[in-house]
Amino acid sequence: MIVVTGATGNVGRALVDTLAAAGEQVTAVSRRPAQVPDGVRHHSADLGDPASLRPALDGAAALFLLVAGDDPHAILKQAAGVGRIVLLSSQGAGSRPEVYRHPALFERAVRESGADFTILRPGGFASNAFAWAESIRTTRTAAAPFGDVGLPVIDPADIAEVAAAVLRGAGHAGRTYELTGPAPVTPRERAAAIGAALGEPVRFVEQTREEARTQMLQVMPEPVVEGTLAILGAPTAAERAVSPDVERVLGRAPRTFAEWAARNVPAFR
Ligand SMILES: NC(=O)c1ccc[n+]([C@@H]2O[C@H](COP(=O)([O-])OP(=O)(O)OC[C@H]3O[C@@H](n4cnc5c(N)ncnc54)[C@H](OP(=O)(O)O)[C@@H]3O)[C@@H](O)[C@H]2O)c1
Repeated sequence: MIVVTGATGNVGRALVDTLAAAGEQVTAVSRRPAQVPDGVRHHSADLGDPASLRPALDGAAALFLLVAGDDPHAILKQAAGVGRIVLLSSQGAGSRPEVYRHPALFERAVRESGADFTILRPGGFASNAFAWAESIRTTRTAAAPFGDVGLPVIDPADIAEVAAAVLRGAGHAGRTYELTGPAPVTPRERAAAIGAALGEPVRFVEQTREEARTQMLQVMPEPVVEGTLAILGAPTAAERAVSPDVERVLGRAPRTFAEWAARNVPAFR
C-alpha cells in the first residue's frame, strides 16, 4: 500500500490517480475531505499533528511525503517501518538552503530516517499560473513581476508521474532528482500561451517588485517571499537550467507550459 500526502493538491491528485490506475492500493491523505477514485482509501490527517497520520501508515510499503508541519522527525517516527519514502522537496532546498530551510530540514530528516529515500526537487510549478485564473476570466489580463525572465517551470502532472515511477520502481534509492520543464518560459510567454489555448489574447501587466512583494506576503512568510522574488528576478544559472531528470526517469521529455495551459483552459475561460 502506498500513502500519498497532499492528496488534494496539484501533484497529489494526479499521483493518486496514476497509482490507482496502475492497480496500486492507495491511501490518500489530506486535512480536508477529498474525492478519490474508486478503491482508494482517504484518511484525514494533519502533518502538523504527526500522530494523526499513524492510522494511514499501518501496513504501508511506501510514503509520498509533502513538506508540511514543523517536525519532520516526528512525522518520520510515525512512518517507522515504511520501507520507501519519496519527499516532495523544492529546488530552493539545494540552490538557496538558507532561505528554503523548511524543505532542507525535511530532506535532512528523510536522509537520516533509515528508509530507502528519494528526494524530488521541482522548480516553479506551471500551476502557479492558476493565480491568474480570476483576472484572466474577468479582464483577460495577467500580472507578474520580471516579465522577461525565463524559468523552466514544470507541469505538476510530470512531478506526479516521476513520483509514481519512483514509488513503484527500483533503482531510485538515495537519489535526488531536480525536476524542471523542457525549456525556460517567461511570465509574458506564459500569459500568451494561456491566451493561445483560450483562443483570445491575454494582456500581460508587469508588476513592480514591490507590488509583487506585497501580494506574496499575504500567502508566504517574508524570507520565502524574498527568496522567491530572488529566483523569479535574478535566478542563478542552476535555477535557469533545464534538468535531464524527468526524461531520465520517464524516458520522455517533460511537458511544455503550452500543454499545461491547453489541459487547464477551463480554469481561465
Ligand atoms: N508551487 C511551486 O512552485 C512549488 C515549487 C517547489 C516545490 N513546491 C512544493 O510542492 C508542494 C505541493 O504543491 P501542490 O501545488 O501540489 O500544492 P497544493 O495544490 O497547494 O496542495 C497541497 C496539498 O497538501 C495538503 N496539505 C497542506 N498542508 C497539510 C498539512 N499540514 N497536513 C496534511 N496535508 C496538508 C493539502 O490538502 P489539505 O489543505 O486538505 O490538507 C493539499 O492536498 C508544496 O507544498 C511545496 O512544498 C511547490
